[in-house]
Amino acid sequence: MIFTVAIDGPAAAGKGTISRAVAERFGFAHLDTGALYRAVGVKGGDPVAAARGLSAADLARDDLRSLEAGQAASRVAVIPEVRAALLAFQRDFARREGGAVLDGRDIGTVICPEAEVKLFVTASAEVRARRRWLELGGERAEKSLASVLAEVEERDRRDRDRSEAPLRPAADAILLDTGALTAKAAIEEAGRLVLVALRAAGHMRDGMAGD
Ligand code: DC
Repeated sequence: MIFTVAIDGPAAAGKGTISRAVAERFGFAHLDTGALYRAVGVKGGDPVAAARGLSAADLARDDLRSLEAGQAASRVAVIPEVRAALLAFQRDFARREGGAVLDGRDIGTVICPEAEVKLFVTASAEVRARRRWLELGGERAEKSLASVLAEVEERDRRDRDRSEAPLRPAADAILLDTGALTAKAAIEEAGRLVLVALRAAGHMRDGMAGD
C-alpha cells in the first residue's frame, strides 16, 4: 500500500505530536523533515555540501531540538540547492511501501502533492510561543516569553516569505487549528481524517486501528 499523510504548518503548531501519533496508530513510517534542515543548519561549513552529505550521525545529534538549531534550519532552508539535495530522499520516503507520515513546511505543496491526506496544522504565534516557552521550562527558562515569541515570528516570516517552497497550505489541505484543542483532541481529529481517506482509498484492512 502506498499512502502518504502530509502534515505541514509553522513552528510549534503541534505537527510533531500529531504526526508521531498518526504514524503509530496506523503503523506508518514517520519522517520529521525539519530534522533534516536542523542537521544541515547545525553542521556548519557550506550548507549545500552538508545537505548533500547528510549522514545518520548528523541526524542523531542531541542538539537538533534547540531554538538555535531551529533558527539555523530556517536560514539554510531558503537555499534552493539545499532543498534540492534533500528532495529525493523525502519523495522516496513519502511513497515507500506501507504508508508514511511526513511533517514539515512543503510536504503537501512540493514534496508530495499527490499525498492522500494533507493537513495544515496551525495556531496563533502567541499560542505557539507559549508552548515552546513552557517546553523550555516556563518561568525557569533562560529566555522570556517575549523573546521566544519574537523568535517564532521571525522564523514564521522567513519560512513564509522565501521564494523556494514557502510555507503555505496546499489548495486541497485541511486546516487544523490546534489553538483551542488539547493534544489528545488534535490527534483524534487528525486520526479521523486519515481514517476517512484510508476508507475512501479502499485501504482499511484487519489490524488497522479503525475505531
Ligand atoms: O519543523 P521544524 O521546526 O523542525 O523546522 C525547522 C526549520 O526547517 C523551519 O523553520 C524551516 C525548515 N523546514 C523547511 O524549510 N521545510 C521543511 N519541510 C521542514 C523544515
